[in-house]
Amino acid sequence: MAGPDAAFWQARFETGTTPWDRGAASPQLLRWRDAGAFPAGSSVLVPGCGSGWELAELAAAGVAVTGLDYAPAAVERSAQRLAERGLQAGVLQADVLQWSPPQPVDTVYEQTCLCALHPDHWTAYAAQLHAWLRPGGRLLALFMQAPAAGAADGYITGPPYHCDIHAMRALFAAVRWSWPKPPYERVIHPLGAHELAVVLTRL
Ligand SMILES: C[S@@+](CC[C@H](N)C(=O)[O-])C[C@H]1O[C@@H](n2cnc3c(N)ncnc32)[C@H](O)[C@@H]1O
Repeated sequence: MAGPDAAFWQARFETGTTPWDRGAASPQLLRWRDAGAFPAGSSVLVPGCGSGWELAELAAAGVAVTGLDYAPAAVERSAQRLAERGLQAGVLQADVLQWSPPQPVDTVYEQTCLCALHPDHWTAYAAQLHAWLRPGGRLLALFMQAPAAGAADGYITGPPYHCDIHAMRALFAAVRWSWPKPPYERVIHPLGAHELAVVLTRL
């Protein structure tokens, strides 16, 4: 399997090497929440939920939210965060490339899971996201903008793997997804990069 595996991410959590972690929910999640993107009672998935900051914020908003992560430490952290705040949400130890929900959901919140996967897995992951969502459901995506110097020579470097907008258009093809017009909101990321906030509708 190309790229990082569950043991890689587990080691990052165990050694406290989590530079992507804001220590709080993403400001973009809060903006989307305040704009009504997560109606109470709607179903939301958070793949690669990490420490569970976004999961907890969505649970607090009354959303039926489930977080997925294949690193046991991430699942433990997320469960602990929910327990500390007395919140209810699902937290599953699962591989996002293998798992399927019992029924399609309304929304997927994608934050730094795609850029954690080697691009060899991107098509499979995009197919998963499409299958998880009901028709008309929305993918709230934060596409990591982190080009590495070696890319000019053809090297694939990550994580984070750069989610170039041209690659995103090919991956989330317009025959399967409806795209809003750019420009897209830039969200500053603790890795020293920024994300592009894009809301795609599953056709
Ligand atoms: C860079 S971290 C981001 C965590 C969180 N989304 C955040 O922004 O703080 C990537 C997370 O995705 C998880 N992950 C990566 N590949 C995965 C896979 N194939 N299945 C499930 N989780 C995965 C890792 O274990 C890790 O927790």
